[in-house]
Amino acid sequence: MSLSPPNSNPRILVFDSGVGGLSVAQEIQQKLPFAPLVYASDNAFFPYGTKGELELIARVDAVFHALIARYPVDIIVVACNTASTLALPHIRNHFSQPTVGVVPAIKPAAAQTKSNVIGLLATPATVARTYTHNLIKEHAANTEVISVGSSELVQLAEQKLRGEKITSERLKPILQPFFDHPRGHEMDTLILACTHFPLMRDELKEQFPAQVSLIDSGEAIARRVVSLLGERQYAEQEPEHLVVFTKASPAVEALQPQLFQFGIHKLDILEV
Ligand code: DGL
Repeated sequence: MSLSPPNSNPRILVFDSGVGGLSVAQEIQQKLPFAPLVYASDNAFFPYGTKGELELIARVDAVFHALIARYPVDIIVVACNTASTLALPHIRNHFSQPTVGVVPAIKPAAAQTKSNVIGLLATPATVARTYTHNLIKEHAANTEVISVGSSELVQLAEQKLRGEKITSERLKPILQPFFDHPRGHEMDTLILACTHFPLMRDELKEQFPAQVSLIDSGEAIARRVVSLLGERQYAEQEPEHLVVFTKASPAVEALQPQLFQFGIHKLDILEV
């Protein structure tokens, strides 16, 4: 498994079903400001969090084959918990690039909680995954984990990035199960286990008492990317980022101004 020749700037593919992976892209940009990114959103099959496991593996396989054939990249970042908790072994077996995935931050949450009650906010698929249950068994066996799966919250994050204001009224019913849980008032750590959710960190934070700290895996992923690069340094030049969608749509057009804020000025459609 090797990166491209040392004289070229390694290109990083950041993949998600939608805009959520931008929260991870941002962390990578902070650590590697000169790294060129290909940000790919499988918006044609969005949302992933409601899809069956077999159809999702088949879809991810098809999309990655199309992406890698069209855009040569050196590192793959699967910036989607829903895809990573299911398809990471498949991607690693089928593509030669070093691959980093994002999985729920259960281990750090269990290490930091003082009350021994943590929340897990993810897509319905991630909450139900065997992978997630195993993480809980392994790292949080003696901790109360209150899990809430919501696909609606994913949609709200997409809407926010298209410029809509997300009101408290829309968030409250989604988060209510945390407050209804008998030990909900003891919760001091909430894991944002879907990459869409850090994009709404401020709105979410407001919904919980001050004692609740929100954590996600974005920064850890960026650190892992840096460690994969080893000694290699990027030339100090403005990187050319590219965003790829699997379907053209009015929503894609509405997103463009936000994409500029992430330094992404080139857009491509790759139908899969
Ligand atoms: N952003 C994705 C994740 O981290 C999932 C969103 C979706 O349901 O498509 O899980």
